[in-house]
Amino acid sequence: MSLFIDTLRGKRGPRPPVWLMRQAGRYLPEYRALREKSSMLEMVMTPELACEVTLQPLRRFPLDAAIIFADILTPLIGMGSRLEFKKGEGPVIENPVRSAADVAKLRLPAPAENVQYTLDAIRLVVGELGEKTPLIGFSGAPFTLSCYLIEGQSPGDLERTKAMMVADPAAWHALQEKLVTLCVEYLVAQAEAGCRSLQVFDSWLGHLGPREYERFVEPYLVKVFHEVRKRADVPVVFFATGVTGLFPQLARLDAHAFGVDWRVSLPQALRLLGREVPLQGNLDPQILAGPWEYVERAAREVLAEGASVPAHVFNLGHGVLPHTPPENVQRLVDLVHRRSA
Ligand code: CP3
Repeated sequence: MSLFIDTLRGKRGPRPPVWLMRQAGRYLPEYRALREKSSMLEMVMTPELACEVTLQPLRRFPLDAAIIFADILTPLIGMGSRLEFKKGEGPVIENPVRSAADVAKLRLPAPAENVQYTLDAIRLVVGELGEKTPLIGFSGAPFTLSCYLIEGQSPGDLERTKAMMVADPAAWHALQEKLVTLCVEYLVAQAEAGCRSLQVFDSWLGHLGPREYERFVEPYLVKVFHEVRKRADVPVVFFATGVTGLFPQLARLDAHAFGVDWRVSLPQALRLLGREVPLQGNLDPQILAGPWEYVERAAREVLAEGASVPAHVFNLGHGVLPHTPPENVQRLVDLVHRRSA
């Protein structure tokens, strides 16, 4: 039994479970030490290293879930993308997708071939964690993956992505179909390898208005949730940022829970979603990086708001930032653990 899994299934426990997006990463000195010797991709593609990095935050903090160390972009490599994580620039794809012909060239290898390294890392982590702490698997959503594939770098204002959407809808829709398959197969394979929950990241969705969302994105996202829920019996969380204006539409997804960023309060998010559903979030990561006195106040406010929604998983509104003091993470996790509802 797990507090985290129960909460995602709508069952409120004695306190909210807590984990943090990007809980493994550069804010931890032990991560930076490993990172000095290997690139980000080498770390993801070496199951022993990916396992070690996944467990690093769990050794320090009594977190209620682990998340596999990988990236939403690594499955694109097997599709034919030349992906690199460049210092200071973030991810770069040297051969972006710009035409229907580029879309047609994208391959769809099975997960066992494409992301064997992540599936192996999952089995290692699950072996180490045992029953006590569930492991989360994840995928980028088709829209956010499209943004990186088409722009070829940090998506910015999505100029080329939106241009393809409206000027070459046939190419757009063909790309979405392929990415739905990638995303579904990747998520199901992670559940089969031992992940007890799945999260879909749609980090760039907040750049769309509701009408383009409904026309160009929603049918595919609906399909992702529909297919994954048919094939994997684990709770699935949907996360995006800057999507307060899309909550009424997002509520139609067959997700077990929704991740909420810090731009909206938890009760307000629930009202906009318009249905009784567990929420995950939503402390501002920038606040967590600041003075503890204010972190404490803000965290208590998130806890109080979380007590008024059907079920609450404590998390940040986005990932832990590299300049966050590990001490603040320690104190935050302790604060949530001391809380009993
Ligand atoms: O601990 C965890 O959360 C698990 C691992 C994880 C990473 N990326 C590792 C990573 C997860 C869940 C992600 C998701 C991810 N990756 C998203 C969705 C969530 C979000 O942040 O919106 C996106 C958009 C990406 C794409 C990505 N990967 C970017 C833009 C960057 C560069 C910017 C940055 O934060 O460094 C990455 C690199 C990356 N992915 C790092 C880590 C730990 C940093 C690697 C390093 O330089 O050491």
